[in-house]
Amino acid sequence: MTDSSAAQRVFSPAERVAILPPNFWSEMDAAIARLAAQPGPRVIDVSKGNPDTPTPEHIVAAMQAQVAEPRNHRYPSYEARPSLRQAVAERYRVDHGVTVDPETEVAVFHGSHEAILASVQALADPGSTVVLPDPGYPLYRSAASLAQAHVAPLVLRHPEYAPDWSSISEVKDARMLLLNYPNNPTGALATTRIFSEALDFAAATGAAFIHDFAYSSLGFNGQTPLSALAVDTQLRATVELQTLSKTYSMAGWRCGMAAGNASIIDAMKAFQRHAYSTMFGALQETAAVALSANQDAAHELVTVYQRRRDQVVAALRQLGWDVVQPEGTFFVWARVPYGGDAIDFANRLREEQRVAVAPGDGFGSQGRGHIRIGLVHDEETLAEMLQRLADFTGPSVASGAVV
Ligand SMILES: Cc1ncc(COP(=O)(O)O)c(C=O)c1O
Repeated sequence: MTDSSAAQRVFSPAERVAILPPNFWSEMDAAIARLAAQPGPRVIDVSKGNPDTPTPEHIVAAMQAQVAEPRNHRYPSYEARPSLRQAVAERYRVDHGVTVDPETEVAVFHGSHEAILASVQALADPGSTVVLPDPGYPLYRSAASLAQAHVAPLVLRHPEYAPDWSSISEVKDARMLLLNYPNNPTGALATTRIFSEALDFAAATGAAFIHDFAYSSLGFNGQTPLSALAVDTQLRATVELQTLSKTYSMAGWRCGMAAGNASIIDAMKAFQRHAYSTMFGALQETAAVALSANQDAAHELVTVYQRRRDQVVAALRQLGWDVVQPEGTFFVWARVPYGGDAIDFANRLREEQRVAVAPGDGFGSQGRGHIRIGLVHDEETLAEMLQRLADFTGPSVASGAVV
């Protein structure tokens, strides 16, 4: 017999949790998992930015050795390991000609996800304004919501996806401006002009400038993506966030870093000490190895993604799709053919062809009418995905019968 008085009580979440926007990715994942459990051809999931290639062997070997080190079994210090902070500073010097002080201008986080949250929590008071790109990575809005900050969307205009500053001309006072290049979802690269204008905006409004540089290594045709610290060389207002996730296919390892203006870094670290504690010493030492060792594997990865980009863009254009060739990242951002609704298109494509793409609506109002394809499968799988897209967007779509 069940004693009903012993049943679990149901608690309502605190308001800060209740008002969070639905997590775009987890809802999509649930639909994909449901479909994958049903019989049929394999589901091809290009909806996310989860690298498919393994972490380079020398990095895995370094981690194996570090895990066996007893000194890494104890609580790590609240200050990141000097080896890692120095490795971050050295990469900045070599890759971007930028000087950062490893003592005061570098911090490490469990991925740039955590660094993004820390930056918003460290800077934005409830009710203050944060300027976020639209389209933009969905986490930015979640972070602003957790901080109970007001979001001013900054429109990135097709086809360069540079900020259209007139879209935030009413913003006179802001706590932070966040930009992200190479850009997710559009694949656009930054220019010196974009960062100079961002710094002008930051100076005029009192905002800090946070640059999410998650795809820092992924520029095509030999282009090195521009660091915002190479424009704000005096670190007047800028902190830049990087990650090992994409550069070394280490998304599961959860390691990212922040570098730039010491007062912002200090505030982020203060939040981190209370909210997130510290990072496994073995991971910190291994991250230092990844950053300091020969970068051939990271360079090879760029050629892999470029080949996939060329394959997918050429095939979509052959199908008559409107696609801006991405100059970086591993995403292809395309208009839904025949002006269809992106959510409807993505849902039908998933259910009918077992191909999961990300509808642009998840990236903000400017994402409507677009889908994002992640180049996170080998060329054979991408070829199969393209065939299914061709089948799906055949005459029935053109006549308006499907979409
Ligand atoms: C633009 C952007 N920023 C940040 C992240 C978070 O990356 P991580 O937490 O793995 O460093 C991602 C992941 O896809 C991203 O696309």
